[in-house]
Amino acid sequence: MPKIQYRKLGNSDIKVTTLALGTWAFGADRWWGEQRDLDSQNTLYRAIELGINFIDTAPIYGNGHSEAVIGEALKKEKLREKVILATKAGLRWKASSPEESFYNLKKQSILEEVDDSLRRLQTEVIDLYQAHFPDPSTPIGETAQALYKLYQKGKIRAIGVSNFSVGQMREFMKFSALHSLQPRYSMFRREIESEILPFCIENNIAVLAYSPLDNAVLTGKFFFGQKIPQDKVRSINYDLEGENFRINKEAAIKLKAVASKYKKSLAQLALNWVVARRGLTCAIVGARRPAQIEENTGAAGWEIAKEDMENIESILGEREERIKKPLV
Ligand SMILES: NC(=O)c1ccc[n+]([C@@H]2O[C@H](COP(=O)([O-])OP(=O)(O)OC[C@H]3O[C@@H](n4cnc5c(N)ncnc54)[C@H](OP(=O)(O)O)[C@@H]3O)[C@@H](O)[C@H]2O)c1
Repeated sequence: MPKIQYRKLGNSDIKVTTLALGTWAFGADRWWGEQRDLDSQNTLYRAIELGINFIDTAPIYGNGHSEAVIGEALKKEKLREKVILATKAGLRWKASSPEESFYNLKKQSILEEVDDSLRRLQTEVIDLYQAHFPDPSTPIGETAQALYKLYQKGKIRAIGVSNFSVGQMREFMKFSALHSLQPRYSMFRREIESEILPFCIENNIAVLAYSPLDNAVLTGKFFFGQKIPQDKVRSINYDLEGENFRINKEAAIKLKAVASKYKKSLAQLALNWVVARRGLTCAIVGARRPAQIEENTGAAGWEIAKEDMENIESILGEREERIKKPLV
């Protein structure tokens, strides 16, 4: 079994494994479609057995369901002390219309959310608490001060943000310590490399990459015969659309050939690559079944040689020039 390495979470006293288990799909809602709680629990247990110590969730994943499944599973096997639990605040849902979500990072809302998360996770402390998305209607200082208060009180052990720009992080840091950023990052989504990643390196902010398999696109399975699921996540991923699909398939074939040199799968190559990038702390990879997390942990314990890194760079560069991104 490959040994998964640990890295420090910014300047906190927490150490996390370079592979973390993402649990969005445990929410079992329209985003990822049907998911049995038993499969979620077994995936979580297998991840811990394989040496992963870092679990990422959020209240919005199934409107509390992902957190509740994790809380129950950890309590049953008395595993709480073995894991670093990360959750989030700031994306809420309407009681009258649970499918409708909205941003709220006001102090009062955070105070309510943290207690709800502690209860669902059946824990006394949250190891990493993250502002999920910037909330345009709340001053960043209000959010940062609220999180810092929770940190001082010991309800949370580290403070993070997700989907924040450099400007937003700078503003946040005027009011609070900041230990981590959770941005989207994978071979196919490298936007953070120009400004965000250098800023995090300079300021010792841990970078926790989400969707490191680009929602399973980088397993290659949709290019090699498997049907694309009819869920919301895949329906909005532009890498699976029209001409982009063909361009990504060509890149995936070339990347798979690199992976084969190491007797590794494309998913394992894609995860290894993320974790090897300068400034990256870990890859938060989603899994719905034990077999998936078993394959994904095969990304640890080996290195991509320099000439293959260069080859990957040219494959990705060629792809990047051809891919069509939606206008934001
Ligand atoms: N902060 C944020 O805004 C944010 C946003 C997105 C995600 N996240 C976090 O990041 C985590 C990971 O991101 P993600 O779930 O979007 O995407 P991902 O990690 O890129 O992809 C995960 C999905 O790929 C499939 N998969 C995983 N391993 C596989 C394997 N070995 N072989 C075949 N298929 C495999 C599974 O779905 P199928 O079996 O259905 O294909 C799995 O749910 C989330 O769970 C969440 O914790 C955070």
